[in-house]
Amino acid sequence: MDLTEPQIPEAPASTGHPRQLYMLFFTEMWERFSFYGMKALLLAYMISELKFDEPKGYAILGSYAALVYTMPMFGGMMSDRFLGGRKAVMYGGILMAIGHLVLALPQDWSFFYGMAFIICGNGFFKPNISSLVGTLYADNDPRKDSAFSIFYMGINIGAAMGGLLCGYVGQQIDWHYGFGLAGIFMILGLVVFAIGKKSLKDKGLPPNPADLKKPVFAGISKEVVIYAATLLVIPVIVALFNRYEIMDFIMFGLGALSVLYILFIAFQMDASARYKLFAALVMIVFSTLFWAFYEQNAGSLNLFAMRNVDMHVGGVELPALAVNNFLPPAWVVILSFFFAWLWPALNRKNMEPNTPVKFGLSFVLMGLGFYVFYLSSKMHAETGIIPLFSFIAGYFFIICGEMCISPIGLSMITKLSPARIVAMMMGIWFFASAVGEFLASKIGAMMSVPEGVVDNPVLSLPYYAQVLNQIGLWSLGIGVVLILFSRVIRSWMGQVR
Ligand code: PHE
Repeated sequence: MDLTEPQIPEAPASTGHPRQLYMLFFTEMWERFSFYGMKALLLAYMISELKFDEPKGYAILGSYAALVYTMPMFGGMMSDRFLGGRKAVMYGGILMAIGHLVLALPQDWSFFYGMAFIICGNGFFKPNISSLVGTLYADNDPRKDSAFSIFYMGINIGAAMGGLLCGYVGQQIDWHYGFGLAGIFMILGLVVFAIGKKSLKDKGLPPNPADLKKPVFAGISKEVVIYAATLLVIPVIVALFNRYEIMDFIMFGLGALSVLYILFIAFQMDASARYKLFAALVMIVFSTLFWAFYEQNAGSLNLFAMRNVDMHVGGVELPALAVNNFLPPAWVVILSFFFAWLWPALNRKNMEPNTPVKFGLSFVLMGLGFYVFYLSSKMHAETGIIPLFSFIAGYFFIICGEMCISPIGLSMITKLSPARIVAMMMGIWFFASAVGEFLASKIGAMMSVPEGVVDNPVLSLPYYAQVLNQIGLWSLGIGVVLILFSRVIRSWMGQVR
């Protein structure tokens, strides 16, 4: 039997997808529901309920977001070498469900422990559910790109519903009910996967099942040792939350190591592969900056939405957290259709921008979005409250930016990396967003509003407006520089566009 042939039966229609894609779609949709539902509440919960001061709230949020996207490097490694994608997704999902349910407990100790479970769980879950999608298609299958677009849609439908429902329940009813709701949907995702995973047949199985069952010591198998060792990481993460200053060293240390690793590999390669890796490295570094600005969404913009955006529509006051966390993924879902039409249409006219130009455009568009927030703040300085319309419009531009970088980055990594380190490079791509989210919390902390000012929008608005302006300008500037240098980066990419 030719093992390179996909084992999943071809769908009858030429554009159809195997039904396993939809099983993975719904698993990931419910998982992202819970992930983003919980994230919607995180910062506001720390400030309003736990009474953390704002800089501390941002520091904990940054540490959480950084660790949650650092772990996929390790979870990916564990699954490639030992567990296979299916076991990794199941185990990660179970840890995440436990984490959400722990957060639902109204106890002091539960907060850091709940987050630590989610961090470890996401490390196993996130990279592996995506690579399972890849296993459904042969590398050259033309349906592969569209499969990932459909999957990205599932991510964002889940994120939009989670932000909306958990944001509403958490802010308006009870924070812990919001976290609990997230837990229920994570369990739903797990059930979908537990029932559906058999249909994956031989996909995502452990590379060496006999070895995994082999006892390592005292009759305990390697598999159980991996699970148990992961549980030992949980108290370490809790300790890190208590000493979050250390996170600076961890993130910048790992960041420097990742860059050195890519350079080290690059210098062992022939010139063409080396320059491809240089191109990937430059774009990975820029993606870090993109997320550093973009992720104000999960941080400062939550508090901005609560304090400085007019949430009244037809006499009803909308819940600010729900709105702020619903808008970006909802725009992704809507704009996916537009971009799915735009790129091929431009391509047919030979006008589709190449990857470095798209990266540059993503910054320009995001910069415009932040500039909309800033201009609106400037125009409404006397009331301190900006209209909901300008908030929605700002996010429109920011998400157009996301559409030019996030889905494109994934395929860029697979095309520019030498085959034997693709999985590692994917881990580094996620890690770049971890560094970005960590930086985002540092930028967010610059928008900390002092205690006496929080309830006075006229006084709180300038704290946001000034930094939003800076983000807008930096983003536009970086975008223009990237577009100017796109020819150079493009020339390093060889045949890859
Ligand atoms: N929002 C998308 C997701 O949750 C893409 C993304 C992944 C963005 C990781 C930042 C970091 O999958």
